[in-house]
Amino acid sequence: RNQPNSRLVEMHEYAAELYQHILLNAEQGEEALTYLEKRGFTREMIEKYRIGWALPEWHHLTRMLQRKGYTLDELAESGLAIRKEGEEAAFDRFRGRVMFPLMDENGKVIAFSGRILGTSKEEAKYLNSPESPIFKKSEVLYNIHRAKSAIRKTRRIVLFEGFMDVIAAGTAGVENAVATMGTSLTASHIREMKRFARDVTICFDGDNAGWEAAKKASVLLNDEQFNVEVAVLPGELDPDDYIREHGEETFRTQIIGKPHAFLAFIMMHARRHKNFQYENDLLQYIHEVLKLLSGRSSPIERDLYIKQLAQETGLSEDAILQQYRKTE
Ligand code: GTP
Ligand code: MN
Ligand code: MN
Ligand code: MN
Ligand code: MN
Repeated sequence: RNQPNSRLVEMHEYAAELYQHILLNAEQGEEALTYLEKRGFTREMIEKYRIGWALPEWHHLTRMLQRKGYTLDELAESGLAIRKEGEEAAFDRFRGRVMFPLMDENGKVIAFSGRILGTSKEEAKYLNSPESPIFKKSEVLYNIHRAKSAIRKTRRIVLFEGFMDVIAAGTAGVENAVATMGTSLTASHIREMKRFARDVTICFDGDNAGWEAAKKASVLLNDEQFNVEVAVLPGELDPDDYIREHGEETFRTQIIGKPHAFLAFIMMHARRHKNFQYENDLLQYIHEVLKLLSGRSSPIERDLYIKQLAQETGLSEDAILQQYRKTE
């Protein structure tokens, strides 16, 4: 790593320490600490994930960094501060937010995501660092530096939608857990994942957006030769909610421990919002499943899912098999 980049990393490391110091030791951190405690964060978790609090001030971090000798250019380039066009001053990007450091594979802080306390109509829930020479959003897998040994041991990655879910899962003993930073899965993410494992369990939120994202991610990963399984959450819960409601053990055994095979998940997804009393829904469903089935070679899978299709739709296996041969 070259010199300018190492200064950018140093700034982030310093910011993470400052944010955490304020959260844990300053009176101004109390409201945020209470928020985190209400969400089930222990002091141990806060320290492990290096969570902090950015004061609701315009120049706190900026002044501290300038005092340490970082230039205005460096402040702006890091994304930690925002410089207004043509002005010789900058202000803090993150103000009044709970700060979650994003780390590279070696555990060095390269960016942040900051959450507001509670909910707001005016402000985005999360604010991420902008892209910088050290932070490429489309590549970062949250928690990869902690997860990688567990991934190598289990030969499996558990992929979540949100980093809050990764933290909750880790506390529940699922340590081979990573998340993208809100963006959908990119080719760069997949390239990163391939370095560590070929088996993946997707565990996204149980709401509609989560189902759609899981469908997209599962197809992409399946196309990229991953063995894909999908762990599905009931209702609208996300993994973090689920663990709080049903407990760590139930999450491990009933959700992560009982994933659906890729095709079974695709069928579940295709059945959602469909009513087989309508011919169109029925035909569309069969078409969708057969299309994916034809891309796979195993005769056992073909037999299994054609039987299931027949059962679900009330059509004969023979008719479905004939249709399948046309799709091939
Ligand atoms: P909590 O409400 O704190 O439990 O968050 P969550 O983990 O349930 O997040 P959610 O399911 O809403 O979104 C999943 C991921 O999308 C988050 O981890 C973020 O990375 C990203 N995300 C969500 N909301 C925003 C937002 O307002 N801005 C940005 N940039 N990213 C977001
Ligand atoms: Mn969501
Ligand atoms: Mn759908
Ligand atoms: Mn969520
Ligand atoms: Mn959540």
